Amino acid sequence: MSREHINNAVQICHSLLASCIHGDEDIVDATAGNGHDMLYAAGLTSGRIYGFDIQEKAVSATRELLQRHGLLSDRVRLVCESHTEMDKHVVSPVKAVLFNLGYLPGGDKTITTAASTTLSGLGCALRLLSPGGMVFIVVYRGHPHGEKEYEALRDFCAALPQKQYNVAFCSFPNQAGKPPLLFVIEFRNNGAAAPDLG
Ligand SMILES: C[S@@+](CC[C@H](N)C(=O)[O-])C[C@H]1O[C@@H](n2cnc3c(N)ncnc32)[C@H](O)[C@@H]1O
Repeated sequence: MSREHINNAVQICHSLLASCIHGDEDIVDATAGNGHDMLYAAGLTSGRIYGFDIQEKAVSATRELLQRHGLLSDRVRLVCESHTEMDKHVVSPVKAVLFNLGYLPGGDKTITTAASTTLSGLGCALRLLSPGGMVFIVVYRGHPHGEKEYEALRDFCAALPQKQYNVAFCSFPNQAGKPPLLFVIEFRNNGAAAPDLG
């Protein structure tokens, strides 16, 4: 059986996502971008797939990619809005939420995710998670907002109550430069209600 290498935050995110989806759970892609993560997610489940992006260009690219792969159907909901509005559109619990932060590859590099909206979107994501559900956050430190976003996420994740959440952080200590990093948050399946994180 082949497996992915461990040198890339997105690949590790995809492997963990595959291990948490069993066939029909709902998934949210909080930053649809060019649609690659959403395409991967759509291939894992027969459940609903939600995609959010603030750029119409990204929503169109995602729609086209899913269409090209025969995965654009009623179960796909693409929304050109910030992930801070996620809970207006996602009404029932989801098994996983993906955040692949930064700017749209091939697009305007000045339009990026930002620490305050990312934390607000993450708060929505945690409220929507079903027990055992997971949030994946790939963060890029190599652009001006990225370092601040990373620090805000590190502090937010460190403050999550351990009784309700498992948190993991994946870095690549022997890689040159500033490779993307991965935070993973798991809502522990211990029967406790999700805490109010404000
Ligand atoms: C690195 S790209 C995402 C890559 C994408 N998941 C893929 O597989 O191609 C980051 C995206 O986040 C989007 N974005 C920035 N701020 C956002 C926000 N507040 N809500 C939703 N999307 C946002 C950008 O427009 C950009 O398309």
